[in-house]
Amino acid sequence: MLRRLHKEQPAAFAFTPDNLAWAEAQITKYPEGRQASAIIPLLWRAQEQEGWLTRPAIEKVADMLGMAYMRALEVASFYFMFQLQPVGSIANIQICGTTSCMICGAEDLMVVCKDKIAAKPHTLSADGKFTWEEVECLGACANAPMAQIGKDYYEDLTTERFAEILDELAAGRVPLPGPQNGRYAAEPKSGLTSLTEFAKDRAQYNASVQFAVDIGDTVKRIDGTEVPLVAPWQDRSDKNGSAEPDTSGPVLSEDTPVDETGVDKRAAPVEGTGHPRANEPAQEAVIASEGEGTQPASLSAPRDGGADDLKAIKGVGPKVEKMLNDMGVYHIDQIAGWSAEEVSWIDQNLEGFKGRATRDDWVAQAQAVISENETESSSRVKKGDVDNT
Ligand code: FES
Repeated sequence: MLRRLHKEQPAAFAFTPDNLAWAEAQITKYPEGRQASAIIPLLWRAQEQEGWLTRPAIEKVADMLGMAYMRALEVASFYFMFQLQPVGSIANIQICGTTSCMICGAEDLMVVCKDKIAAKPHTLSADGKFTWEEVECLGACANAPMAQIGKDYYEDLTTERFAEILDELAAGRVPLPGPQNGRYAAEPKSGLTSLTEFAKDRAQYNASVQFAVDIGDTVKRIDGTEVPLVAPWQDRSDKNGSAEPDTSGPVLSEDTPVDETGVDKRAAPVEGTGHPRANEPAQEAVIASEGEGTQPASLSAPRDGGADDLKAIKGVGPKVEKMLNDMGVYHIDQIAGWSAEEVSWIDQNLEGFKGRATRDDWVAQAQAVISENETESSSRVKKGDVDNT
């Protein structure tokens, strides 16, 4: 399969503050002049953040490492772990198609993918939740056939169980990874025949499943704010407050051919264009879009009584709330009064969450929260009046 940049690309990429700090720390691991060695972890983190590896993300990483864009593209396009096209907002299903899995039914699993996701690999399902692809041996041959979903392995699959797993994921649940036929790990299906004494004190699940259960980091993107799906062992409120799950995919630039977003001389060919794009001002295009709108009035600190819980607004999680606070937004009534221009400015300045204020209509939500509060307080007053008489 030819690995090319996707023909539609977002206008810009920026690491979230946490991911940026992490990426910068990775770079310090390498001696002066060898920073390019950090390219794989940085590209990987960019992919985890966005779901797939966009051209602006590759260029951003190249800039951070002082590399020519082409050198970074060579790495991104060489390794199959990097997804160069949009993937499902919930998961990209990777079916191992190598010998053991092929003998044990991988082709049947791919039929399920064709039936439930899309006829062709690397194609978004109709609801945008899934993509699928065939991959080479994932090293779980003793538990064939298997699929990697998110960061976890689902092993000893049958078509029926695999179809159920896809249904569970689509419904917002994370099935327990690991062997799906009752095996603990890779022992005989009939049970252990040796080393049985070690089975007495073992953990509930085998090491990789136990680790998945313990850290609960699986199909979610690591933007730190949302857990799109809920695993049986996860308590969303523990980690993410009241934020609603975000199963939306990366936002693509609307009807904008890649060439028009601009790129400099070092740019690589893009699928469908067949030639490198010439001297266009990529940076200026990004800066122009970031400059859209008008900055809303900000406060230097919360008013008396402290800041409101902005997470009452859908789409605002702890990270976004902190970003808003950093912009001088502490109160729901500030958001309720934003004009379209101000919403646009906020949208452009939510690094890693661009467009969310419009997507979730924060202004209408904020106005609804205020009106709800007013209704509640007026009914309390009325009740107090009655009680006093
Ligand atoms: S052959 Fe499928 S995991 Fe090795």
